[in-house]
Amino acid sequence: MKLTTERLVLRPWEDKDRTPMARIYGDAHVRRFHPKVLTVEEANASIDLAIERARTDGFHFQAAELKGSGEFIGMIGLAVRSETVQAGLPGHRTVEIGWFLAKEHWGQGLAPEGARAWLDYAWSIGLPEVAAFTAKVNAPSQRVMEKIGMIYDPGSDYENPELCEGHWLRPQVVYWKRNPTFFERHSITVAP
Ligand SMILES: CC(C)(COP(=O)(O)OP(=O)(O)OC[C@H]1O[C@@H](n2cnc3c(N)ncnc32)[C@H](O)[C@@H]1OP(=O)(O)O)[C@@H](O)C(=O)NCCC(=O)NCCS
Repeated sequence: MKLTTERLVLRPWEDKDRTPMARIYGDAHVRRFHPKVLTVEEANASIDLAIERARTDGFHFQAAELKGSGEFIGMIGLAVRSETVQAGLPGHRTVEIGWFLAKEHWGQGLAPEGARAWLDYAWSIGLPEVAAFTAKVNAPSQRVMEKIGMIYDPGSDYENPELCEGHWLRPQVVYWKRNPTFFERHSITVAP
């Protein structure tokens, strides 16, 4: 899957992305709202999984690069939320949208720009809705969700069961965006 925006190319993973993506996943500041940084092996495994899941599901989190220079900046994409890892959590059978960019590229609206292209793709293949999940304290990620028109659903708040009670990263929030065309086509009226 290759998508382009004004400033970005969103494309399948290539081997050359592995080192810069491992650097991003291994950066303690980038992962300050996550329980831990990833090792190089874990970062590689996440790319391997993304490649495999793109084959089986048709899409998954992908590489993002700058259009002009081709510089790799991180990952943006859609993924079918993994049942094996996340069964029992809210929305575990939904499609989620996610992003992880190198900190040198933050603050330029690149994540929302890429995410909007992925939402257009989601609607183009007829998905009824897309969800986004993050730690309650991850304000930057929630700003991206707001910028792309996702709505916070307080009723879906949940606790990350992999963290102990009281852990500051345990509370999680969920945002949703519905495909307006889908709901119109099926004459379904929903609250905003
Ligand atoms: C979340 C993230 C993708 C945002 O990407 P981005 O391209 O910088 O998005 P934007 O430029 O639209 O900025 C979104 C918000 O990030 C915050 N932000 C921007 N630049 C920042 C910086 N240099 N340092 C800290 N926060 C910053 C601001 O709150 C901003 O909101 P604002 O535009 O209303 O001020 C990026 O911060 C990131 O990769 N974070 C780490 C990975 C992560 O947490 N991913 C989500 C996993 S659930």
